[in-house]
Amino acid sequence: MERWRGRVALVTGASGGIGAAVSRALVRHGLKVVGCARDVGKIEKLAAECQSAGFPGTLVPYKCDLSSEEEILSMFSAIRTQHRGVDICVNNAGLARPEPLLTGGTEGWRAMLDLNVLAVSICTREAYRSMQERNVDDGHIINISSMSSHQVVSQPLANFYEATKCAVMALTEGLRQELREAKTHIRATSISPGLVETGFAFKLYSDDPGKAAATYENIQCLKAEDLATAVVYVLSAPPHVQIGDVQMRPTEQVS
Ligand SMILES: NC(=O)c1ccc[n+]([C@@H]2O[C@H](COP(=O)([O-])OP(=O)(O)OC[C@H]3O[C@@H](n4cnc5c(N)ncnc54)[C@H](OP(=O)(O)O)[C@@H]3O)[C@@H](O)[C@H]2O)c1
Repeated sequence: MERWRGRVALVTGASGGIGAAVSRALVRHGLKVVGCARDVGKIEKLAAECQSAGFPGTLVPYKCDLSSEEEILSMFSAIRTQHRGVDICVNNAGLARPEPLLTGGTEGWRAMLDLNVLAVSICTREAYRSMQERNVDDGHIINISSMSSHQVVSQPLANFYEATKCAVMALTEGLRQELREAKTHIRATSISPGLVETGFAFKLYSDDPGKAAATYENIQCLKAEDLATAVVYVLSAPPHVQIGDVQMRPTEQVS
């Protein structure tokens, strides 16, 4: 990780769960992390924790609703002015709404598409532009996908969500191919976790907290920190090694 010290990483969805753990790990490795989400207060708290822990990097909180292209573009513009640009982009923010294919609402589907697919694509394009204009040839774009991008499991409430994660898998491989065409050494990686114990299920089952809690109680789930370890692993690979996808399930998970 030595070569990343002092470089700038954007982590989306840094206010909790996986994004917060990834931000903390990168700050611990000496990076300057711009962490964005809507609840910027939580990122400010995390930034203060990182500072009092004496980590060598810094966490810069940024308030951004990623479902708005305008807000994403102004965030990239602020990063350009204040920190020169982005060397690493971790597209982590995502959500699942309980909207089945036969009875779900279009608004919920659109919210998932906006965040899980469009925001990932916009941030990727803008991160690439930022790297290009500074001749950064060793950048890295990491998409937090899901095991459901590899296998559609029987979970009717989440079928649309699973489709958005299949899109993330195609976007990551498509990006890898475009980067090769562009003859850069910028790398593209997806990380595909199974169940991770975060606030994620509580948002999916917001009207049934008991069901959300049960999701995490039946087996020993992955922790957000396990995902942070995977992000550090893919970033640490030597520049000639591109890890395409990391599949990681809890050992006890069946599907
Ligand atoms: N947990 C799992 O079991 C699991 C499994 C497979 C894949 N994943 C994937 O892992 C990623 C992270 O999930 P998590 O488990 O850490 O979930 P989480 O605890 O619910 O965190 C989601 C993050 O996304 C942010 N976010 C949501 N809507 C946003 C918006 N419109 N604009 C900006 N930020 C927004 C949230 O911040 P604000 O609400 O403050 O904006 C929060 O920081 C997601 O892509 C998810 O699909 C999770």
